[in-house]
Amino acid sequence: MPAFVNEIFVLIHLTGMAILVGAFILNMRAKENFPFKLMVIGAAIQLATGTILVGLAYMGDDGGPDNLKITIKSLLATGALIAAIIGNKRQNKGEKNLQPFFHTAGGFAVINLVIAVLWNAEIWS
Ligand code: HEM
Repeated sequence: MPAFVNEIFVLIHLTGMAILVGAFILNMRAKENFPFKLMVIGAAIQLATGTILVGLAYMGDDGGPDNLKITIKSLLATGALIAAIIGNKRQNKGEKNLQPFFHTAGGFAVINLVIAVLWNAEIWS
């Protein structure tokens, strides 16, 4: 498999991250009208492309991905997707006080971003 294929999915993975984390940061102080729809799209992209990247990592010569890191990232991304879906449904029904769903989805996404970039950072070694 050419490295290019992996690079394309990393590109989509980073675009999904930008949608999800960007929607959260831009609206962090909001009290209503949360961008749940964008967050559902972003989280779904992350789960789909992340799973494909794991498959590609197993196909490569470097011995597959770090399973603990991938397990944690999968759980957090799934949690973010569920929180965004519930928030979206409730907001469409006109419900208020949806900040916990917004901050759960956004918070999990930010933690995943930190894990993705710093898991193997030089300061730990
Ligand atoms: C909110 C969810 C997520 C965020 C914000 C996120 C963020 C990122 C970022 C920023 C990178 C690039 C890191 C770097 O190259 O230094 C990355 C890479 C990666 N992510 Fe995610 N991720 C998320 C979800 C997932 C999920 C659910 C999986 C697996 C099921 C996953 C699997 C991977 C893999 C395998 C790579 C390495 C790609 C490569 O370098 O070839 N990610 N992620």
